[in-house]
Amino acid sequence: MTKAMEILKSLTLEEKASLTSGKDCWRTVDVEGKLESIMMSDGPHGLRKEEDGRTVPATCFPSSSTVANSWDENLIYKIGEALGEECLANNVQVILGPGVNIKRSPLCGRNFEYFSEDPLLATKMASGHIRGVQSKGVGACIKHFAANNQETDRFSVNAVIDERTLREIYLSSFEEAVKEAKPWMIMSAYNKLNGDYCSENKYLLTDVLRDNWGYEGVVVSDWGAANEPVNGVKAGLDIRMPGPVPSADAAIVEAVKSGKLSMEELDKNVLRIIELVEKGVKGRIENYKTDMSAHNELAMKAAEESAVLLKNNNNFLPLGKSDKIALIGAFAEEIRYQGGGSSCVNATEVSNLLQAFDDKNIDYTYARGFKTEDDSIDDNLVLEAIAIAEKSDKIIMCMGLPFRMESEGFDRWTMSLPQNQIELFSKLAKLGKPIVIVLFQGSPVEMEWSENADSILAMYTGGQSVAKACVNLLFGDAVPCGKLSETWALKLENNPIALSFPEKGTATYSEGVYVGYRYYDKKKLDVMYPFGYGLSYTTFEYSDIKLSASEISECDSLEVSFKVKNTGSVAGKEICELYVEPTYPSVSRPVRELKGFKKISLDPGEEKTITMTLNKRSFAFYDVETHDWQVDTTVYKILVGASSRDLPLMASVKVNSSRTNKTFFTTDSRVYELNANPISKEALNKLLTEDLKLDISALSIDLPLSKLVGFSGGILSVDMLDRFVSELNKKIQ
Ligand code: GLC
Repeated sequence: MTKAMEILKSLTLEEKASLTSGKDCWRTVDVEGKLESIMMSDGPHGLRKEEDGRTVPATCFPSSSTVANSWDENLIYKIGEALGEECLANNVQVILGPGVNIKRSPLCGRNFEYFSEDPLLATKMASGHIRGVQSKGVGACIKHFAANNQETDRFSVNAVIDERTLREIYLSSFEEAVKEAKPWMIMSAYNKLNGDYCSENKYLLTDVLRDNWGYEGVVVSDWGAANEPVNGVKAGLDIRMPGPVPSADAAIVEAVKSGKLSMEELDKNVLRIIELVEKGVKGRIENYKTDMSAHNELAMKAAEESAVLLKNNNNFLPLGKSDKIALIGAFAEEIRYQGGGSSCVNATEVSNLLQAFDDKNIDYTYARGFKTEDDSIDDNLVLEAIAIAEKSDKIIMCMGLPFRMESEGFDRWTMSLPQNQIELFSKLAKLGKPIVIVLFQGSPVEMEWSENADSILAMYTGGQSVAKACVNLLFGDAVPCGKLSETWALKLENNPIALSFPEKGTATYSEGVYVGYRYYDKKKLDVMYPFGYGLSYTTFEYSDIKLSASEISECDSLEVSFKVKNTGSVAGKEICELYVEPTYPSVSRPVRELKGFKKISLDPGEEKTITMTLNKRSFAFYDVETHDWQVDTTVYKILVGASSRDLPLMASVKVNSSRTNKTFFTTDSRVYELNANPISKEALNKLLTEDLKLDISALSIDLPLSKLVGFSGGILSVDMLDRFVSELNKKIQ
């Protein structure tokens, strides 16, 4: 019998019930002489530990939306290690992050706190974060499980999502991280999912999480998210936070006594809580000291690696250190480095761009240019900015989303930057001088107004050392290598849910799997900057893609190799991206999906061979008839390149699936369905024009095949049509 089970046996019913609520806002309940209490604290990109009415100073790392742009699991692992160390130094046993909710809309207020619109990138980054934290004997808590994709009405909105979309998109951002990194805790979200609160949603907390994914850790509610206590225990919720909640504990005691809740059911949850506490207590290191200056340096490095160079006409950047520079925009002084809400960190040190310029002895003149407290235009600030710009050779304009526009608790109402910034930019652009835009924002903004900018560098919400990182990048002491983890649409109206987001009461995910680039690619919509896009100060060339086989069964793995060469004059890093594109899917699917990525360093002229391995899930879709992942027997394109819309390498592989592909066609199939596939289209054309001598131009594409018998002038019988269809299905299989 394990020690945890011995402790469980020693507990009374009342003691067990008390463990299912927090002791206070941040700690688990202790039981005198039997079980200690452990502490949990926020957040995803820095420790936010409340102590004596303040939050302890901690390193504020780049937000998750920023670090995701690094596409670097090793980097985020290091950040995780640093977070774990700061937890040890502050006697915190679990840190409440990472947040992996999918960015369904760019307006979601917490997008700065989440990784991506793509579940693979999100789950890989989350996995690195969790493994890093837990390598220090501290627990991580992946959140918010699940479908917490808006702040509006977040405590009760009902997310209505079909099973396939849920599995392929909204649960996939958790899945691999949960299975591979095994977070000590998972936080259930505030909202409902398909009618039941996530904190008492059996499908979510037991069927998927424990039975399907094999999760053995603790489920903690978001703060105030628990609903009915007994339903929570039965569904798989272990700890209701915050506590104490005596009424809930009493309801659990009463339910066991009345038989409504079995002791076995309660014991399962309590045992997990005991095991969590044991891990936390075991991980404690008294008087642990950590190197906060090293963490500050890591924060700066992470900001450098995560910044995205969106535009660089004629290689305008990097700047020369002797250039006569006008530094314009309040964000140069009032640096924007994190979003608002529970993730907010009391940063150990924050520098702004003015200080960073001074540290490098770079000459500049500064003007605030616009207000940040509201969007109104201050003419004096504008005139002052224009005046210094006229006396300078180059302009750097620092723009972005004010703190008041990006926070937990509310969604953005627009995808636009404040008008007072755009107005000022257009006036500065009229001076005809080179102009660099630096953006400080946690999520995409509309950029169609920026055509006169020579360069655009997005720093995102880059953490406490973002200013130093920015100056290093602007002047070439660092080379940009980040790529977008989310699409920047041309305008909000092009977003798949722009017409309805955010919905109150019920949020219907009618766009299905078509989120982010999955939507824009399917609709063939232009975008401002595509998913996976980012420039460097050097250039890279892709070549020589090879597959380990041209035909495999769904159970085989497939090795994909290709070469990348640094064809520029400076060393740089390149994020190589691999997408899979089914040629004839049996269900509606995105055109292509990210199925692999790798970040590599290359010196000028250096070439490397990169290998990625694909497996069944790389080709699969979630089939709602079998409630499982299935692979179609068809040909798949393997595409490799620098972004979702820059894929110079392509190779094909035929995948043979054990799944009896649904009989594709029946006599009830429509003409347009056969026309969608070249094999059946050719067969149908032959039948119609050669055998039946019909004028196909007059044929309705909605016509079911069975109607051809009546149009064939007695030539086509029902038997002949049946034979045609069965022959056709053999060809297609
Ligand atoms: C908040 C957030 C959650 C956070 C928790 C504790 O409401 O939704 O992310 O960890 O409460 O602050």
